[in-house]
Amino acid sequence: MTEPSTARRVYIRTYGCQMNVYDSERMAEMLAPLGYTRTEAPEAADLIVLNTCHIREKAAEKVYSDLGRLVPLRATARRASRRVRFVVAGCVAQAEGAEIRRRRPEVDIVVGPQTYHRLPELLARADRAGKAPAICTDFPAVRKFDELPARSGSGPAAFLSVQEGCDRFCTFCVVPYTRGAEYSRPVEDVVREAETLVDQGASELCLLGQNVNAYHGLDAGGREVSLAGLLRRLAEIDGIARLRYTTSHPANMTDELIRAHGDLEPLMPYLHLPVQSGSDRVLRAMNRAHTAASFRATVRALREVRPDLALSSDFIVGFPGETEHDFEATLRLVEETSFAAAYSFRYSRRPGTPAAVLPHQVAEPDKARRLSILQALLADQQHSFNRGFENATVPVLFERRGRLAGQLTGRSPWMHAVHVDADESFLGTIQPVVVTRAGPHGLAGVLAIDCENATG
Ligand code: SAH
Ligand code: SF4
Ligand code: F3S
Repeated sequence: MTEPSTARRVYIRTYGCQMNVYDSERMAEMLAPLGYTRTEAPEAADLIVLNTCHIREKAAEKVYSDLGRLVPLRATARRASRRVRFVVAGCVAQAEGAEIRRRRPEVDIVVGPQTYHRLPELLARADRAGKAPAICTDFPAVRKFDELPARSGSGPAAFLSVQEGCDRFCTFCVVPYTRGAEYSRPVEDVVREAETLVDQGASELCLLGQNVNAYHGLDAGGREVSLAGLLRRLAEIDGIARLRYTTSHPANMTDELIRAHGDLEPLMPYLHLPVQSGSDRVLRAMNRAHTAASFRATVRALREVRPDLALSSDFIVGFPGETEHDFEATLRLVEETSFAAAYSFRYSRRPGTPAAVLPHQVAEPDKARRLSILQALLADQQHSFNRGFENATVPVLFERRGRLAGQLTGRSPWMHAVHVDADESFLGTIQPVVVTRAGPHGLAGVLAIDCENATG
């Protein structure tokens, strides 16, 4: 049987954070009624979408090198009488707008994170206009969430965007400029989307926001609801076994939210709480609104209610003016806190942010040296955290097939990736797994039921 003539393929490459992963899913859902199915092969695509990230220079520049590699596909397709369109979406689109077309005239559409719900209309406009570009990077009054279609299935562990934008203006960060002002989706909207995801097979939800613990959406009665309130509401939905949220700001970790970690059963014992630095001088220059001591106090309070909490964080080394002394304060904080996971970066100068023009920029070799010292310490901590789970039995939600045949991959409550030999029928279920090996990046185990069969 031949495919209907409207059958088209879209290739979406996602850069950056989980919010972009969510946005890419939503774009795919929106393009489905136009006949687009998703493909992993750019050479088979009629539409190529790069959903980009502007957070560090490397991430932003990668888009251009990828475009350089992908654009020749247009000529290949033309020889086969096909037409390929290129869309640059996401935070680079928002930050650079028309500059993208100047550097890469082959790009048909540039669309920011607040306007991607208009993609179908922009595609139609690009069709009509022939080669004329469509650039859409405004922050419209109509919220895109009101215009997006219902969700169409996202697997056992689904992302759900509840908050967007950021009003904190850390001096190194582009997010307030690319994602705009803080906005919280209304509670009922979130609940509806959560119910749809659960109907479609999700049992874990990860609530997303650039500053998610600043969430303050309105309920049906017009009252403001905090993130803790929203989590409690979602925990009541039948079929939700696990809840997570990311990314949080230390200054928004309220007592109420900390308490939820102690008494809200589906809330998983994992928290990503970026600290950036252990030096108060640097934290002040970053405009972080927390100190090393307040961060330590928050962690203490969290561990009091949830002693097994897996704590993850982000670090920046080589922020302008950071001295060896400041860096040592970061190492001290890491040593005292003990992290289960972490992401660490060299400071990257972002045009338009206040820190980009600060004096005393740190030399690249110094940043590189500090980063490798910090990463060695963090890697050690992560490995020893993982080793603590050897021989333990942990519940694993199987999310996907593993890399090896006959293997499934899932997550423990503490966010470990866990690899297990198991039948595909276990996909989407939570099973007890006996951990047989704890590596630096994840765990390997066997289904407890297989263990019993072997020994019993
Ligand atoms: N909203 C989150 C972080 C978003 S960006 C928060 O408040 O922490 C993810 C991480 O990228 C940040 O935590 C920070 O560690 C890093 N990052 C952001 N801007 C950066 C820059 N200019 N250079 C290096 N790392 C940066
Ligand atoms: Fe960026 Fe996070 Fe700071 Fe907001 S709170 S400006 S997203 S680092
Ligand atoms: Fe990157 Fe934008 Fe996310 S800059 S980290 S994709 S919010």
